[in-house]
Amino acid sequence: MIELRGLKKAFGAKVVLRGVDLTIPQGKTTCIIGKSGCGKSVLLKHIVRLLVPDEGIVVVDGRDISTIDREELFGLRQKIGYVFQGAALFDSLTVHDNVVISLVEHGEENRELLETAARKVLSAVGLLPDFSESGTPSYEREWALLKDKKPSDLSGGMRKRVGVARALVGTPDYIFYDEPTTGLDPVTSQQIDDLVESLATKMTVTSVVITHDMFSVFNIADHVVMLDGGKVQFEGTVPQLQASTDPVVVEFLARYVS
Ligand SMILES: Nc1ncnc2c1ncn2[C@@H]1O[C@H](COP(=O)(O)OP(=O)(O)OP(=O)(O)O)[C@@H](O)[C@H]1O
Ligand SMILES: [Mg+2]
Repeated sequence: MIELRGLKKAFGAKVVLRGVDLTIPQGKTTCIIGKSGCGKSVLLKHIVRLLVPDEGIVVVDGRDISTIDREELFGLRQKIGYVFQGAALFDSLTVHDNVVISLVEHGEENRELLETAARKVLSAVGLLPDFSESGTPSYEREWALLKDKKPSDLSGGMRKRVGVARALVGTPDYIFYDEPTTGLDPVTSQQIDDLVESLATKMTVTSVVITHDMFSVFNIADHVVMLDGGKVQFEGTVPQLQASTDPVVVEFLARYVS
């Protein structure tokens, strides 16, 4: 379980988080919504310690992460897969190398182990046949076609999948998606939503999804959190969100659900 207590963050004079209290329930899919620039990405970055709060604490699985050392930080980042806004793949690296980068950065050099890890996660995100078919001619053919591709050779939907595969490589307990469907057409968006849902069920991973896409929210969320003015404005289920009479929520929904 992840808990945020009294989280505050400013960048110079710009106050972004003004005291966020939040619990991310285990085994569920939590969607974080809110206007552009309200601090959704900033919030998520605090949980993996890419940002450090001015005040408040972040507790992951019972551990206050403000006191962890380098090795524990690596452990935390293995435990939490992060799909960054805009996929953020390395353009100069192949699909294989993009996917295993966190293992390589941690000193893993065994090529066979890296390749197996890449195959497993690329199968899990549907870019390759099921991993149990590894070794069959059709699997090997698809692997040979995919592994050396560069991000620029891939469609937007495929790039998102590679980003998800990279986040899965440490077999995380949590996976964070920052706007996974932004910029994708409705059909591809639905496929990514389906992937998010299937990973949540198959791998019993706790998912946190930042999104502007209210159809995604209605599709995948067990739990919805709306940020506004640097605080949690709403927290509850999709039916509770839809029934909310809070003017801020009502206005937001009117704008984002057409
Ligand atoms: N490293 C940083 N330095 C200075 N300001 C920052 C930094 N990161 C974020 N901000 C500012 O904090 C505010 C919140 O940013 P954040 O990226 O969390 O918004 P968001 O809710 O994710 O928006 P969007 O929906 O557009 O992605 C913005 O005004 C942004 O400019
Ligand atoms: Mg953002």
